[in-house]
Amino acid sequence: MRYGRFDDRLREYVITTPQTPLPWINYLGCEAYFGIISNTAGGYSFYRDARMRRLTRYRYNNAPFDLGGRYLYIRDNESSKFWSPSWQPTRTKLDRYECRHGMGYTTIGSTCNKIEAETCYFVPLGETLEIWRFRVTNRRKKPAKLSVFSSIEFCLWDAQDDATNFQRNFSTGQVEIEDGVIFHKTEYRERRNHFAYFACSGKLAGFDTQRDTFLGAYRSWDSPAAVERGRSFNSVACGWAPHGSHHVKVSLKPGETKEVVFVLGYHENPVDRKFDPPGSQTINKKTVRPVIARYLDSRNVAAAFQALKEYWDGVLGIYQAQSPDPHADRMVNIWNAYQCMATFNMSRSASFYESGIGRGLGFRDSNQDLLGFVHMVPARARERILDLAATQLKTGGAFHQYQPLTKRGNNDVGSGFNDDPHWLIIGVAAYIKETGDWGILDEPVQYENEPGSEQPLYDHLRRSFNYTMERIGPHGLPLIGRADWNDCLNLNCFSDTPGESFQTTTNKDGKVAESVFIAGLFVLAARELAAIAGNRGMAGEARRCVAEAEKMEKVIYEHGWDGQWFVRAYDDFGKPIGSKVCKEGKIFIESQGMSIMAGIGLQDGKARQALESVNKHLATPHGIVLQQPAFSRYYVHMGEISSYPPGYKENAGIFCHNNPWIIIAETMVGNGDRAFDYYTRINPSAREKIGDLHRCEPYVFAQMIAGKDAPTHGEAKNSWLTGTAAWTYYTATQWILGIRPDYDGLLVDPCIPKAWDGFTVQRTFRGTRYQITVQNPRHVSKGVREILVDGRKLSAQILPVFKDGKTHDVTVVMGK
Ligand code: GLC
Ligand code: GLC
Repeated sequence: MRYGRFDDRLREYVITTPQTPLPWINYLGCEAYFGIISNTAGGYSFYRDARMRRLTRYRYNNAPFDLGGRYLYIRDNESSKFWSPSWQPTRTKLDRYECRHGMGYTTIGSTCNKIEAETCYFVPLGETLEIWRFRVTNRRKKPAKLSVFSSIEFCLWDAQDDATNFQRNFSTGQVEIEDGVIFHKTEYRERRNHFAYFACSGKLAGFDTQRDTFLGAYRSWDSPAAVERGRSFNSVACGWAPHGSHHVKVSLKPGETKEVVFVLGYHENPVDRKFDPPGSQTINKKTVRPVIARYLDSRNVAAAFQALKEYWDGVLGIYQAQSPDPHADRMVNIWNAYQCMATFNMSRSASFYESGIGRGLGFRDSNQDLLGFVHMVPARARERILDLAATQLKTGGAFHQYQPLTKRGNNDVGSGFNDDPHWLIIGVAAYIKETGDWGILDEPVQYENEPGSEQPLYDHLRRSFNYTMERIGPHGLPLIGRADWNDCLNLNCFSDTPGESFQTTTNKDGKVAESVFIAGLFVLAARELAAIAGNRGMAGEARRCVAEAEKMEKVIYEHGWDGQWFVRAYDDFGKPIGSKVCKEGKIFIESQGMSIMAGIGLQDGKARQALESVNKHLATPHGIVLQQPAFSRYYVHMGEISSYPPGYKENAGIFCHNNPWIIIAETMVGNGDRAFDYYTRINPSAREKIGDLHRCEPYVFAQMIAGKDAPTHGEAKNSWLTGTAAWTYYTATQWILGIRPDYDGLLVDPCIPKAWDGFTVQRTFRGTRYQITVQNPRHVSKGVREILVDGRKLSAQILPVFKDGKTHDVTVVMGK
């Protein structure tokens, strides 16, 4: 069953029933102020950091799903009936419902009792606030007398503390109400210099700021006492749960529409000017008043919305494609690119599956995410790289995570994930290929966030490389440490204590367990580093990288090849994992994908053989599972991977993140049909028709789809914030369509289904627009016969960097 449809022209997904299998969400904000919003107006907002600067509360894992949100109530003052125009939280039957999730905004429209309502939620560019533009129309033949109530629940800033530390928090909440604006100022009296505000363009009939007064004791958001009786209590919060609710009366003639704007925002004052008058305890509102006034004016709201649309036109316009496949097109042109921007902004912090109080930004995650967004926001990608590199340790290892608000490495999680440093090389390489900005390598960057420890970024890459050289195990393969890309393959953990973190507990000294995956990644990264060093005139260093890569390749052939596929790892006893000699977990996806991406086995047929094994043992109609056979019980020497029931997550789930590695590998061996087939299996748009099984949003990729061993094979989980976003985007644009930035230009090397007649791509690259038409008259998958640039034949497969800011026409003819 479908729960909606794509509107590609408007770049929206239109949800046509509020009862989706799970809340289907969207993101508001793209700079510093963010929110998640579901199709029934659930979700929450925060400034920069979902844990440390949370503006509104949310009730996780609740029944019913998705409680806490940006709620409005409409009350008919003649009949006393009231309902939520977003369906939740009253869940009153609506005569019409439509939620449009778009680029950075969500509009929820509905009709009930012949009253039509439409609320558009968005964050204006450059601001730290969100707007709810509410429009209400009377479709009755007689006048309507309505009341509109708003409702949000303030979070007391640190979302973790807010949800646990009640002995304190029930006594700290404070608000101010001035000119109809509700100011939330908990802890402003002491060390905070920020506050939240909630304003409304309508004339207030009343307000509430104490949650339990607004709701009434033992009531929930489906029947607030204030709404039921049709009148606010004008409550002033002191302790307990500060809340924001406005009451506005709206009278409408038949056919008449009125607009009310609500503004929820975050504001900081200079520390020495927090209060007005100085010495008082009253918030200084001089700096925030003009901001509020601006956005309570409908004309400015309309202009801000238009500017947001134009921003996305620009960002998405950098890469546009038209292929014979509508699912691929809408992912590449709209949703997958948009999802990459969400992973840029959120990393893995705030979604329906990530509570926002857990993880900060991951070192490995963010470096990989770069592959998906570097072309859209190169300047911000540069900043991200430098932030990440500053959390690198002097050893070359890295803090596994850092908190975006402080940009400091997270000591609780620490380091020791031995793949981490190489992702920095991959990220920097992608950045330079996109921008040609070699100067980034000279940027001084701290180690361990320590002032005075600055070294050029290039030195960081060198230490990344050396990190592995200094951590080689008994077979000559890299030691795995706490884990490699697979956070759940914990070969040094040996935990038998419930609740112990598999990632941060290390009970073995870690001098034996090795990773073939890191070996492959090392070869890939070493070749990139060689190219970078060569380009910078460091021929000796380049040679060393190449030599070490070759040496590692030999080790992989010797100890990492199992006969029909690549071994995954060696455990603490020196026994192979992911080998035919194993009873469970005989073959893993990661080492196949990564080894082949590093070029291993391309010459002698081993790559093809490994891919055949993947196809035989791991591929399912819903994607490629992580390993087989699934682990049927907990193995103390393998850790978290065997903690999941078979078919879920890393225990033989379809971990979509690494499916693209196999797809890239298939394009490298020229198998365009299979590459595209694998891509389509996990493409959410192509899965829209099985919405009842898939259950997650059909417009974004999910981290995981239940594998064949699970009772719910095909069910997706953990949508939005996953490395899948960047990897699928990178795969589709650079390896299937094959328009791939390289150090010296734009490489054209498609690998497509044979049936395709061709496709077109418009790409802005280093300031030049390339209009590329690819023709496939002989129906091949791979191979370029001829390239014409502005009518002139090109001898190489690389489109030159023109540096002229003009548009160039490129015709590519495929064939042998
Ligand atoms: C999660 C983590 C990522 C890891 C993957 C596999 O997606 O964010 O860092 O590589 O799981 O365990
Ligand atoms: C859990 C998840 C894994 C994730 C890790 C790190 O182990 O299964 O996917 O990468 O947590 O937070």
